[in-house]
Amino acid sequence: MTQDELKQAVAKAALDYIKPHIDEHTVIGIGTGSTANYFIDYLAEIKAEVNATVASSEASAQRLKQHGIPVFDLNSVDEISFYIDGADESNHQLQLIKGGGAALTREKIVAACAKEFVCIADESKLVDTLGSFPLPVEVIPMARSHVARELVKLGGDPVYRQGVSTDNGNIILDVYNFAIADALAVESAINQITGVVTNGLFAQRPADILLLATQNGVKQLH
Ligand code: 5RP
Repeated sequence: MTQDELKQAVAKAALDYIKPHIDEHTVIGIGTGSTANYFIDYLAEIKAEVNATVASSEASAQRLKQHGIPVFDLNSVDEISFYIDGADESNHQLQLIKGGGAALTREKIVAACAKEFVCIADESKLVDTLGSFPLPVEVIPMARSHVARELVKLGGDPVYRQGVSTDNGNIILDVYNFAIADALAVESAINQITGVVTNGLFAQRPADILLLATQNGVKQLH
């Protein structure tokens, strides 16, 4: 199977995982990226059963609406029942790096409101130590140079993601060469830098379950 076929397989597995629990009160949080897009397309097949979703990006909201799936503002719902999203990396504790698609802040907010965070990924995303994938940091534009200098002090190599503006109107610094042994500590240290909106480490709020597509089928990691 190609990586794309694995993404498709895990998106289908996520639908099968949540489907028995969907009722009229269920609110489904929707992530961002190519794996999440496959999930949206599968969700469309059962849209008559889906009363409410909350999207983690304008792009996902648009795709949901194109399918005729109802999308709500996060402030108008009480709790997200399930949050389904991909990742750029996951370690075995289900701590993640996210934000390859620049949607990390809204993704983190929706994940924070979710009863269950179901991460969906192909097997290439599972790593022993986070950090081979450059860590995205969302930054208020005027603080770009200050934050970059502080990230260098923390041991990373920040690179400005050219031509990208987040849904919140901010910029992204991608931090290279950052082996992240203690994800909780690094997440917190970066978030202390003035001008940082948030960073793409999901350690304080890791996934609850990782559905991992492999050549031998979709595995569940807890
Ligand atoms: C977007 C994300 C995505 O979940 C992450 O980049 C994985 O994307 P894909 O499913 O396309 O591999 O965090 O901000």
